[in-house]
Amino acid sequence: MARFIINGGKTLSGEVTIDGAKNSALKLMAASILGEGKTKISNVPIIEDVKTMVDMLRMLGAEVGVDQEAKVLYIDPSKVDNPEAPYELVRKMRASILVAGPLLARFGQVRVAIPGGCNIGSRQIDLHLKGFESLGAEYWVEHGYVNCRIHEGRLKGTVIDLAFPSRGATENLMMAAVLAEGQTVINNAALEPEIGDLAGFLNSMGADISGINTPSLTIKGVRSLRGTEYSVIPDSIEAGTYIIAAGLCGSDVLINNVRQKNLETFFHKIKEIGINIETAGPDRVRVSRSHKRYRAANISTLPFPGFPTDLQPIITVLLSIADGVSVVTENVFENRFMYVDELNRMGAGIKIDGHHAVITGVDRLSGAPVRAFDLRAGAAVVLAGLIAEGTTEVSDIFHIQRGYSDFEKKLGRLGAGIIRSD
Ligand code: EPZ
Repeated sequence: MARFIINGGKTLSGEVTIDGAKNSALKLMAASILGEGKTKISNVPIIEDVKTMVDMLRMLGAEVGVDQEAKVLYIDPSKVDNPEAPYELVRKMRASILVAGPLLARFGQVRVAIPGGCNIGSRQIDLHLKGFESLGAEYWVEHGYVNCRIHEGRLKGTVIDLAFPSRGATENLMMAAVLAEGQTVINNAALEPEIGDLAGFLNSMGADISGINTPSLTIKGVRSLRGTEYSVIPDSIEAGTYIIAAGLCGSDVLINNVRQKNLETFFHKIKEIGINIETAGPDRVRVSRSHKRYRAANISTLPFPGFPTDLQPIITVLLSIADGVSVVTENVFENRFMYVDELNRMGAGIKIDGHHAVITGVDRLSGAPVRAFDLRAGAAVVLAGLIAEGTTEVSDIFHIQRGYSDFEKKLGRLGAGIIRSD
């Protein structure tokens, strides 16, 4: 199995450019099904999850061209005729559930394998299904699949009050509502930047969505949507990952394509901890070496604009070597501390108490064989390896390759001692 071999202690310097947002690109790809014409999506990250979604679209009948060099997808959904998302793809990538809304809107029916849980939580889809029901569909579960069907005609616009600002539910319901009869209002909608990117993409196809980037989205149904050309916003979580990497072992690192307004809470926290970060131009930041020890801090993850749960494992690495005791509280997922045992094997001093991690900072970490439990946990143990004394071997790196393009190459170009061993 492929592994990363990391020799810790190297200093990072130079420049790195952040790719398009995984958690937007996947949704734009699903939404392209709704268009009656061809769609071109630019600034697409070339990662495993995108390749899985390409396979999904092709399985549904779409024609998809991938220009890896240019990071562009060409999607022709005109031949989509199979409203079924099979288990082998949904199991591989939960985000496949996001073809449900578009397929239901376009075909009046959809059959999607129930996405399994994953290492960070049960990952329910009840809010998606209740929303489809309130739009006039019925659903039933059998043999591990969710079947949705509209009684007759099109979905009917309605008011949907989400019990939780679920990103996936907001996205699926927005995509279902754009072709519904009448107006739909989604209250308590998720506010992450990727939601606004999807709404902008749908509007560029001829949808009529207002209230974008507010907790109340209004979608006026239209009869049809056209193809479009669109560019994905930069990935905030990839940006946060490289900012923390530079904070951990950088001397002078420039990071391009960083939308600070999409990471305000994160920036506030890393400055409180003591990372030296400054603006170095439009969508560009510079992280320089800090000669003082980082300070402990308390963090609670929350839906946007709160501290992003996806950066929780990654900032915990920074806190594991900070001066003092920090408390990290995970409020979004029920099981997102699986990586802590791996950090403790590297000498960290972290205790789990329910949904809190109590982190007593240590002077240094030491290299050890560790596992990547999921995408962000995997990035966290790699960053720990960069500062650990000696060698760290990270296994199960397929998790990391799902969401970070060229992770070891980008870090290597900054001077990190990391190679991939197949
Ligand atoms: C998205 O997952 C992201 N994935 C996740 O990123 C991210 O961690 C998460 O949002 C939270 O920010 C993609 O966009 C592909 P949610 P999603 O619906 O849409 C519960 C990464 O590392 N819930 O906001 O599944 C759910 O169980 C990944 O890139 C219900 O109970 O997140 C979870 O505890 C990991 N019922 C919480 O809400 C529902 O119907 C957040 O879920 C839906 C969700």
